[in-house]
Amino acid sequence: MAAGLTIILGAGMIFINLKTKVPWVKIPNSNLNLISQEINLPPGSLFCDLGCGDGRVLFFIEKQELKKGQPLKLVGYELAFYPYLRGQFLKFWFASKVELKNKNFLKQDLGAAQGVFIFLVERIMPKVALALQSKLKPGALVISYAFKLPNWRIYKTLETKPSQTYIYLKN
Ligand SMILES: C[S@@+](CC[C@H](N)C(=O)[O-])C[C@H]1O[C@@H](n2cnc3c(N)ncnc32)[C@H](O)[C@@H]1O
Repeated sequence: MAAGLTIILGAGMIFINLKTKVPWVKIPNSNLNLISQEINLPPGSLFCDLGCGDGRVLFFIEKQELKKGQPLKLVGYELAFYPYLRGQFLKFWFASKVELKNKNFLKQDLGAAQGVFIFLVERIMPKVALALQSKLKPGALVISYAFKLPNWRIYKTLETKPSQTYIYLKN
């Protein structure tokens, strides 16, 4: 039974990885503090993790924002079912208000988002850059760990490890 479930979830992961060309790799925890300090949005703002894995970045941000007394509306999109499922378990465990959606972020209306976080892979960044250019509103904050958005002007670079983090403000 457990072996069958593992095989089904594993096969599902492989299928989604082939489809999105983006594996589920976690950003090192040690970077999350530095990154979350860059999110200075008004309380109630919508902030999304596009390809959120198990939601760990959003759970961290939620904790930090609650400490500041400035809760944000946090939404994560994740296509692969296993990390999404794990995220739902963590959401329950942390009694979190983060919303996790098993959906393709490229097909979502992101017009209400004041900020997004992305950690994807180099080869899909041109496509993501174009999608964010058309979907985000002017002034929206974009935080990209490890990979640059082609043709976007970097506003700030964070010395996260082992890769840098690039911050943009949508023009
Ligand atoms: C490198 S992981 C990053 C996970 C998480 N943001 C973190 O930093 O720990 C990227 C995730 O994006 C997901 N993904 C890739 N393309 C996607 C899409 N179009 N819609 C939703 N999720 C996507 C992948 O399934 C993968 O789990």
